[in-house]
Amino acid sequence: MKIAVGADHAGFEYKDSIAQILRDKGHQVLDFGTHDPAPVDYPQYGYAVGEAVASGQADRGILVCGSSLGIAMAANKVPGIRCAPVAEPYSAELARRHNDCNVIAFSERLTGWEMIERMLDVYLDTPFDGGRHEHRIEQLFEFGDKQRERTLKDVEQGAVTDAQTPKDLIPKP
Ligand code: RB5
Repeated sequence: MKIAVGADHAGFEYKDSIAQILRDKGHQVLDFGTHDPAPVDYPQYGYAVGEAVASGQADRGILVCGSSLGIAMAANKVPGIRCAPVAEPYSAELARRHNDCNVIAFSERLTGWEMIERMLDVYLDTPFDGGRHEHRIEQLFEFGDKQRERTLKDVEQGAVTDAQTPKDLIPKP
């Protein structure tokens, strides 16, 4: 596979090690940096890897930052990207099986290296289950004015029930 990788200054060491493992396994790696500990802004790396995957330049993406969170939020802004920040292999497996995750995000500050290696294998080797998950994946990219109207109507009509959602806080369309 062609795999895009990227990280900020808090994740580049894991990213470099991951890139090496990928090359050893025979994958083609597109490395968007960063390459040293000089502080950089994680959104730029999340966007770059996200765009590489969304455009088809890469088949999958792998991101690393201090927590895995910010860089995943950035990648998920790119249309077509389903990025999951994960910290253990079962989440990585479900991210592939149920969510057809095309970018994964790891934490260098919170997750041990052995766990990263396990998750990397799971991410690369687990297929998407398809079936009942297909239309849910499609719905992830339907967000817009129409989807907002639908959600507000569903909530008003009680189709989305949540005792914690005070009806008077829901904005009227
Ligand atoms: C950098 O200090 C840190 O904020 C970043 O790597 C990441 O954890 C953000 O979500």
